[in-house]
Amino acid sequence: MSTYANELRATAQAMVAPGKGILAMDESNGTCNKRFAALGIPTTEERRRTYRELILTTPGLSEAISGAILYDETIRQSTQSGVPFTQVMKDAGILIGIKVDTGAKDLAGCPNEKVTEGLDGLRDRIAEYYQMGARFAKWRAVITIGDDIPSLTCLEANAHGLARYAALCQEGGLVPIVEPEVLITGDHSLETSYAVTDQTLQAVFHQLRLQQVALDQMILKPSMVISGADCATQASVEQVAEMTIRCLRSNVPAMVPGIAFLSGGQSNEKASAHLNRMNADYGDQCPWRVTFSYARAIQQTALNHWAGDDSKIGAAQQLLYRRAKLNSAASMGQYKPEMEQEPIRV
Ligand code: G3H
Repeated sequence: MSTYANELRATAQAMVAPGKGILAMDESNGTCNKRFAALGIPTTEERRRTYRELILTTPGLSEAISGAILYDETIRQSTQSGVPFTQVMKDAGILIGIKVDTGAKDLAGCPNEKVTEGLDGLRDRIAEYYQMGARFAKWRAVITIGDDIPSLTCLEANAHGLARYAALCQEGGLVPIVEPEVLITGDHSLETSYAVTDQTLQAVFHQLRLQQVALDQMILKPSMVISGADCATQASVEQVAEMTIRCLRSNVPAMVPGIAFLSGGQSNEKASAHLNRMNADYGDQCPWRVTFSYARAIQQTALNHWAGDDSKIGAAQQLLYRRAKLNSAASMGQYKPEMEQEPIRV
């Protein structure tokens, strides 16, 4: 048992406290630059710093956000006036999270499939991040649906990596967010998404047990069971909620404190509506909290508005706050599409 067990349990519970979710803002420099370039924002460290300051100093953010996941560059940065971001977060009551994987790389022998890397030196990096104030971590594995994939090789390699990472995190005092993402890309049906998510979660929980990961000291960050983006028949909000909850209930032990979904390229409205329906229709059947750990579905509107123009920071923060609050409502089953039109202010 980890010497941090009690602390880890308390952190995991706080991450999924009622009405709260997690803000993913851990885009690697490559991904962040790609999003900046699409909006004509210079891809410099200073612009990334300004944008992350915009997010972390959003007034009222902690009303909806329990913790934020940072990238290595960001956890070392400060506000323009010199306050470390880690201090800003502590002052706001937002837990510090850190992405510790080093990315999804081509999996040898398996065309079109990826395996996530980052185990080398991870114990030492975890120790450093803990010293810096981090209390949870994230590792994202990517599963692609296509002709004859995912292969068993890919599912097992990624599940093994997730479990080894999770065990190291718990040893070093960080709550692991275990993120197996089944990509939305493709023309697969809802049923195929269910089958692959089911197989993925089976492999992940088998490996978590093998690596002796304490299930009450982790958070699962799955994708929803959803029609492929190019599928001609798109499942309804009700079908997505039903199939997702069914898949999770048959795979995720009750001991896991919470499930915090990624948004995976869904529209803002769909990401909120799906999460809401799960909580409104099935909340009383779920042994774990069901909430969000969105990046794009919270950030993108604010990023588009700011677009590198610092005179728009205040308005962009309002947009960020708004999406965080709408998803907070969804995590309680209290979101309504009409709320998209209503003013929401701090
Ligand atoms: O790893 C993926 C992010 O943490 C979640 O991002 O909500 O844009 O899919 P997303």
